[in-house]
Amino acid sequence: RPRVTLRRLRELAEAGTPVVMVTAYDFPSGRVAERAGVDIVLVGDSGAQVVLGHPDTTSVTLDEMLTLSKAVRRAVQTPLVVCDLPFGTTELSDEQAVATAVRFVHEAGADAVKIEGANPSRLSRLRAIVEAGIPVVGHVGLTPQTATALGGLRAQGRTDDEAIRVARDALAVQDVGAFAIVIEAVPADVVAEIRRALRIPVIGIGAGDADGQVLVQHDLLGITEGRAPVFVKRYAALGDAMVEGVETYAREVREGFFPAAEHTYRAAPGAAAAVRA
Ligand code: KIV
Ligand code: NA
Repeated sequence: RPRVTLRRLRELAEAGTPVVMVTAYDFPSGRVAERAGVDIVLVGDSGAQVVLGHPDTTSVTLDEMLTLSKAVRRAVQTPLVVCDLPFGTTELSDEQAVATAVRFVHEAGADAVKIEGANPSRLSRLRAIVEAGIPVVGHVGLTPQTATALGGLRAQGRTDDEAIRVARDALAVQDVGAFAIVIEAVPADVVAEIRRALRIPVIGIGAGDADGQVLVQHDLLGITEGRAPVFVKRYAALGDAMVEGVETYAREVREGFFPAAEHTYRAAPGAAAAVRA
């Protein structure tokens, strides 16, 4: 398969072919995304919770995100690799934001970065990164890095005022140069209106029909524990399968069924006797 480029994404969106995006956080999850033939791999800061066990996305560091991104990059050749700019690495200035985005491209081989929000300073950061020559995906609606200020992890754009704000945010993100936008946790009919006003592809999560969809890989595979948001569909129950595998191993070790002869090396004749002597 040919590599997915920005041009290819535009072509898919124009042809009405949905763009498939999924997260990955390490080499195996990157390989899964590559082998499954998705279009975009997102090294999401959801990795904070999903693979690092943090309570929310605000505690993941730049170094942690770079480590995850490098591992994913080693696994992914075909899809576009987009890396989330984590909380605390873009807030101070446009210069800080550009320096952070450059590290993702330079050190981790990111094809593009994603930045949350659309207030004036967020838009300034987005424009500065685009001007530095790095493609940027925007992210509006529910923006987990600032969820506390939004009143928690809740849907956005359900009231008139909120719907208008999400629409304004999306247009502003497009105007400062994002090549695509993630819209998270916004009612489908509101998203449909926003899409009418946008030229760039909308990648939805909890946003109904869009030009593309994104889900957290560990959510859709059923690896994540606990209750998932309504917008998650579970396509497998791998968490249970993984526990079952390790439980069976533990039982076989304890009962003496593992290792069997076929999992064991054979020495040359006489080697064991030589040790005894
Ligand atoms: O971090 C993440 O996984 C994301 C997607 C859910 C859009 O930002
Ligand atoms: Na994210």
